[in-house]
Amino acid sequence: MSALQRRFQQARGDERLALLEGFHALKHALRFGAEVELVAAADPDALERLAAELAPDLAGRFRALAAEPVPAELLATLVPRAPRTRVVALARRPPFRMPAAGPVVLLEDPRDLGNVGAVVRVAAAADAAAVLTTGMHDPWDPAALRGAAGLHFALPVGRAHDAALAGRPLLALDPDGEPLDPARLPADAVLAFGTERHGLSDALLARADARLRLPMRPGVSSLNLATAVAAVLFAWRLSGAGGEPAR
Ligand SMILES: C[S@@+](CC[C@H](N)C(=O)[O-])C[C@H]1O[C@@H](n2cnc3c(N)ncnc32)[C@H](O)[C@@H]1O
Repeated sequence: MSALQRRFQQARGDERLALLEGFHALKHALRFGAEVELVAAADPDALERLAAELAPDLAGRFRALAAEPVPAELLATLVPRAPRTRVVALARRPPFRMPAAGPVVLLEDPRDLGNVGAVVRVAAAADAAAVLTTGMHDPWDPAALRGAAGLHFALPVGRAHDAALAGRPLLALDPDGEPLDPARLPADAVLAFGTERHGLSDALLARADARLRLPMRPGVSSLNLATAVAAVLFAWRLSGAGGEPAR
């Protein structure tokens, strides 16, 4: 095993690090201020050309980080899924800090890491304050980072704990709730979404200050988890309550 392979293998078990697969994940990490420790690219010059085309704000950064080309066969062994753009990286996870304002997305025990990634991505786009998860999965798992295109660096993402949520209204998003009026969502709400198969737990529903639903055509049971988060966050944004993104 090469030193590079050992470095990436160790990083997978290290909760202080994030494993980035592909150009877009690295682009977002750099754009949102990640501390990038290591970049391995099969063709650093091609990467820089891609940056000139797709991320001119980051011109020069990729070439500076990816020193020597790494053979594509070796690169493919470093990460769970080799990206087409043939670049992978390690970055430090920022410490989780709960923002004072803005709606927080809480995912209760999500099972599909693709959904977790899609939620982080849409939460970043809608300018939500943070994404928190409960349950078995690390929200910084490489599969979630892949689904989020590295946007974990654009807002706080972490595991939920009661102290972080205390003092905020807890709103349960549930297909059996009352109709949602996005213009009336409290600015500091915790918006809780349930697990893909069973929805929100009885314990969370009992604690919630309100139970709210998105309207659906009769016969449709529920929306996909990430789609439900997207619909709620953008309904909130478009209602005018969210304003224009500050960043
Ligand atoms: C795939 S759904 C879970 C379906 C589950 N059988 C249920 O009845 O809740 C995952 C999560 O998305 C959210 N969701 C889906 N459709 C929704 C709707 N129409 N209104 C509000 N939330 C919804 C809920 O938080 C739900 O727990």
